[in-house]
Amino acid sequence: MRIIRSPATMTAWSERLRREGVTIGFVPTMGALHTGHRSLIRAARLRCDALVVSIFVNPTQFGPTEDLTRYPRTRLKDHALCRAEGVDVCFEPTSTAMYPEGFQTTVTVPSIARRWEGDARPHHFSGVATVVTKLFGIVRPHLALFGQKDFQQSMLVRQLTRDLNLGVEIIVRPTVRERDGLAMSSRNVYLSMGERAVAATLYDSLRAGAEAIRNGIVDTSAVHAIMVNTIGQEPAIRVDYLAICDPVTLDPLSLVTTKAVLLGAVRLGSIRLIDNLIVSTRSTRNR
Ligand code: PAF
Repeated sequence: MRIIRSPATMTAWSERLRREGVTIGFVPTMGALHTGHRSLIRAARLRCDALVVSIFVNPTQFGPTEDLTRYPRTRLKDHALCRAEGVDVCFEPTSTAMYPEGFQTTVTVPSIARRWEGDARPHHFSGVATVVTKLFGIVRPHLALFGQKDFQQSMLVRQLTRDLNLGVEIIVRPTVRERDGLAMSSRNVYLSMGERAVAATLYDSLRAGAEAIRNGIVDTSAVHAIMVNTIGQEPAIRVDYLAICDPVTLDPLSLVTTKAVLLGAVRLGSIRLIDNLIVSTRSTRNR
């Protein structure tokens, strides 16, 4: 496996392969790789000839009071995982290479970034949109894979790729979970033992909401009450939002007629967890 740090070298590598007709797959990450990343890498490996994983803790997607400096960095373990999974290139640019002096362009996707994670983290999505656009420009992949766990992020990436004609096929893969249902995330290492023991309650709450919808409850205030009630069983958890939304626009729904995405964000001490589930009504599933 080659480790490339310079954007120019990365682009030259990709351009050479593209000229030879090689299909390039790409998994962008911020490192601290876990089983969720492994599943993206494996899915990518099946669909491409050459595979690039980027490891870049992107400063522009962290707010001033967020965890940029203490974000887990496990470089050697990450390389070992990539090697074991047959990754061809690990692209690890420096911040200065990505944002050299004089850098000023930002990419925004206003309507998708407007609420939910966008409310809680005002600059987050323009940071993500800008770095993903840059990474696509540098790596020049044919396809790129993202996890459904960051549902709003995956919608944003699809939108910007379409709007800017980036020519990258976006594949969103299901969330990989721990045995108790907690969505895998690099930030789970921050959880204390006590917090970890109750962290899957967020997933329990989404599942309770999904089950209610599948059982024919269409009024979202009733579904919401069921979700809040499930979370309420763990007093250590504070809800940022639990929402029942249209999976295309992310607008909150008052009635679920066909399909919905249940979005949740909670705080456990200083740790913030997000998760989501997509659910179809019984009538849609029986069609
Ligand atoms: O999901 C992530 O790890 C990051 O937001 C991404 C897409 C690599 C951009 O920094």
